[in-house]
Amino acid sequence: MAVSRRSFIASVGAGTAGALALPLAPNWRGYEALGAALPQDAQQTQQQLETRRADRLLAARPGMIRIDSNENPNGPGARVFEAIKAHFSESNRYPVRGEDELVAAICKVHGVKPENVMLGCGSGELLRAAVRAFTSAEHGLVSPNPTFEAPGNFAKFIGSPVIAPPVDGKLRLDLDAMVAGARGAGLVFFCNPNNPTATVHGKGAVTSFVEQVNRTSPETTILVDEAYHEYVADASYATSVPLALANPRVFVTRTFSKVFGMAGLRAGYAIGRKETLARMQPWLLGSNVNQLALAAATTAIADAAHIGREQRLNREARAYTRTFFEDAGYTVFGSDANFMMVDIRKDARAFKTELLGKGVAVGRAFPPLNTHLRISVGTMAEMKKALAVIKPTLA
Ligand SMILES: Cc1ncc(COP(=O)(O)O)c(C=O)c1O
Repeated sequence: MAVSRRSFIASVGAGTAGALALPLAPNWRGYEALGAALPQDAQQTQQQLETRRADRLLAARPGMIRIDSNENPNGPGARVFEAIKAHFSESNRYPVRGEDELVAAICKVHGVKPENVMLGCGSGELLRAAVRAFTSAEHGLVSPNPTFEAPGNFAKFIGSPVIAPPVDGKLRLDLDAMVAGARGAGLVFFCNPNNPTATVHGKGAVTSFVEQVNRTSPETTILVDEAYHEYVADASYATSVPLALANPRVFVTRTFSKVFGMAGLRAGYAIGRKETLARMQPWLLGSNVNQLALAAATTAIADAAHIGREQRLNREARAYTRTFFEDAGYTVFGSDANFMMVDIRKDARAFKTELLGKGVAVGRAFPPLNTHLRISVGTMAEMKKALAVIKPTLA
């Protein structure tokens, strides 16, 4: 059934049950026009992106409980709002000093030099730049299945092959398969903790993985995505920033979209050696982080009390949610993040659609994990309400 973008959004806006019965993959005209020009798997990717956007529009309807996109439900702290207000008057100027100030704040937190920091419009821009810089038709991307899909999607789009070793039975990244897949690859995407599985690998495992890849495929670069770093509970985990400073084949990305509550502001950064980051520079937009996001991020990264509060709130609501599912007899995989993966033993796609109709937006299905649901951790009040809806729907 073909649905125009306009009529689809109009019916979403009406919020009728009928709208929810529509297929969530409308064959929009824009997609059709663009699609004809793309290779086949890039066409599929394009379609998935349109579906994702439709999902997000549904999730953003007034009154929805939004536990679908791993955002921080509390937003940034009061200090960040003050910083944004204080910088409004600079909105007519291109950002210059603000970039230096944010880089200096990042250097202070990580004990690194400005040459080791690269800012991005969200970490998403840096992931994309990395795929562009390090992969090619000859040297592909290793991106496990499932993981955060943006790097793999972009690799397909530019014609770089994607090697996608499946996660293991516990939904952990299969590091041996990734080492094997990395031979001759341009880039390995190592998401730690991994989105969507919320599984994490300890310091020893990551170090050994890097050593093996360096030995068996010396030209391959490893991107360690630490978007969910602040939420990790596993004591064996440590950031890979020291590895990135010592090893030109490793770099780390971080984001302000998660614990800092700034997903809508778009700021992220990479840490690595100067020569590694320099390879990505040509693919970044100049002035890629806007004036207000710079001010917000500079304040947020130094606000330890706010970060601690957000970590605690997430921990409490996460434990509550995990206990709910485990007590009900469902397997919860990792939860070292602000989301968790639950095997609901039902078709996750249909379940998601059913929940959307009941006012709860959860994560999408991640094939081939067709019975697994990714649930982001909202506020405690949101989780209580959401679980009250999920319980009878599961039954
Ligand atoms: C693992 C991971 N990396 C990167 C991103 C992109 O985040 P942003 O571009 O908002 O920094 C996300 C977003 O959900 C993510 O889950």
